[in-house]
Amino acid sequence: MTSNPLAGQTALITGAGRGIGAAIAASLSALGATVVLTGRTRAHLEQTARALPAPSEVMPCDVQDLASVEQVAARIRQTFGRLDILINNAGIGGFSSPLHKLPPEQWDAILNTNLRGVFYCIRAFTPLLLERGGHIVNISSLAGKNALPNGAAYSASKWGLNGLTYSVAEELRASNIRVSVVCPGSVNTELSPHAGKDHSKMLQPADVAHVVAMLVTQAPRSFASEVLLRPSQKP
Ligand SMILES: NC(=O)c1ccc[n+]([C@@H]2O[C@H](COP(=O)([O-])OP(=O)(O)OC[C@H]3O[C@@H](n4cnc5c(N)ncnc54)[C@H](OP(=O)(O)O)[C@@H]3O)[C@@H](O)[C@H]2O)c1
Repeated sequence: MTSNPLAGQTALITGAGRGIGAAIAASLSALGATVVLTGRTRAHLEQTARALPAPSEVMPCDVQDLASVEQVAARIRQTFGRLDILINNAGIGGFSSPLHKLPPEQWDAILNTNLRGVFYCIRAFTPLLLERGGHIVNISSLAGKNALPNGAAYSASKWGLNGLTYSVAEELRASNIRVSVVCPGSVNTELSPHAGKDHSKMLQPADVAHVVAMLVTQAPRSFASEVLLRPSQKP
């Protein structure tokens, strides 16, 4: 593989201000892509941008707000005229309440970010991707494969995201857009305190970024539709 296999390509990462999204931005930037960093907090996005090996663009947006997502799509068309890679990474947690005690507004926030937000991004950015083909990678979770007591809304959002991904992968397969989902176990970020786990044994954001880099540099004839990512040692 050449050292910059993504040279000339544009990659958008949601939730790029910290954690897994910031690590994915670093990885794709190092592979030669021009990365577009999105999230709600401009200062965090600018912090990510400063650490990248190549120039990037900061375009704040809230994935719960279709108009703000569509504004980013218009800016990408105007600035770059292309989009090759969409990484739907933005997400929020919610791991401290059984479902029957969960306030409905927390249900709404989790589902609107983790599932509806991905729909909005696919709706806004797929027209750009269709022009040349490309990749969509959705960051789900092992909570989208398993039961998660006290995290039912989060789990439901990720089970939904997996079903959305498998379906959209078939919708776009013939149009040269490869759609994949990555389901990591616990990752050492601010999303959750991961009480009782040994943080040194947990997955790190760079581990997820490595998988994303593999997916978007896969030779054209095939694609890995789903990756379940586990730490080598149980944390
Ligand atoms: N950490 C884990 O154990 C783990 C395991 C499996 C999967 N995941 C998934 O990995 C993804 C990234 O999580 P992380 O662990 O890196 O969490 P994190 O450190 O909390 O980062 C989440 C990012 O998403 C952004 N975000 C949240 N709501 C948003 C919105 N409405 N619009 C745009 N951006 C928004 C946040 O920025 P702003 O608040 O500034 O918008 C932040 O940059 C999530 O989808 C998560 O479910 C995490």
